[in-house]
Amino acid sequence: MLIKKYLIVIAASLAITVHANAADIKAGEAFSANCVPCHGNAGISPGAEVPNLAGQQPGYIVERINTFRQASQGDSLMHGLAKLLNKPEDIENVAAYYGSLPRANYSSPNKSLIEAGKKVYFDTYKCYMCHGSDGMGESNSKGTTSPMVVGQTKRYLLKELYAFRSNKRVSRGGYMMNLILPSVSEENIDALAEYLSSQ
Ligand code: HEC
Ligand code: HEC
Repeated sequence: MLIKKYLIVIAASLAITVHANAADIKAGEAFSANCVPCHGNAGISPGAEVPNLAGQQPGYIVERINTFRQASQGDSLMHGLAKLLNKPEDIENVAAYYGSLPRANYSSPNKSLIEAGKKVYFDTYKCYMCHGSDGMGESNSKGTTSPMVVGQTKRYLLKELYAFRSNKRVSRGGYMMNLILPSVSEENIDALAEYLSSQ
């Protein structure tokens, strides 16, 4: 009797574990057909102001879609779409698929601006403490703590950094990005975007 109960408990906990890790990359790839018109093939967007999803932290993709669904995001192109994405497993699968793809690579000949941006990223504002030395973002056992900030165009990075600076984009994680950006000069924002987009 006791053994039977024990087996049921194990079976139940296994079912939970399997479910938690069930993100299905193949199913996500099929579902990504809905995203290709704007986010491009293999998650590299054709539009310079549309973010690349390739290589992005899956947990961040899931959380961003949940945020886009909120009424406050009404002026974003993603708002209407996010409201249609109401099956959590579709979002988890498509996020796992994009997270598995190699990130974009851009280059810039402006070595001195890249060098200046690197200093701001590591020394002046210590962005690397949240976004990682490689800029790939970070996850812990509770989920994603910060997004990938490399593998994006300079235009997109500038747009987001200025959106945080003016509170047009409200950052989760204790408003961290909104607290930092107002103190970053325009010159340093330009250097940061140059550095990150060229890594
Ligand atoms: C009609 C065009 C369009 C389609 C289709 C679309 N997106 Fe987007 N997406 C955008 C735009 C534009 C942005 C930038 C929005 C903003 O900053 O308000 C964006 C932003 C995002 C972001 C934020 C990325 C970041 O780095 O912060 C995620 C995540 C995302 N989209 C996921 C998806 C997924 C998954 C799909 C398919 C299910 C999808 N999108 C389909 C246009 C689109
Ligand atoms: C304390 C942690 C922390 C620090 C320090 C930090 N960030 Fe962030 N950053 C975040 C979090 C969390 C988000 C996601 C916010 C959200 O989705 O609401 C983010 C988002 C971003 C984004 C948007 C990414 C996208 O795909 O839309 C960029 C770009 C960015 N940070 C760059 C920087 C830069 C440059 C610095 C240094 C000046 C910096 N961050 C410092 C935590 C941090």
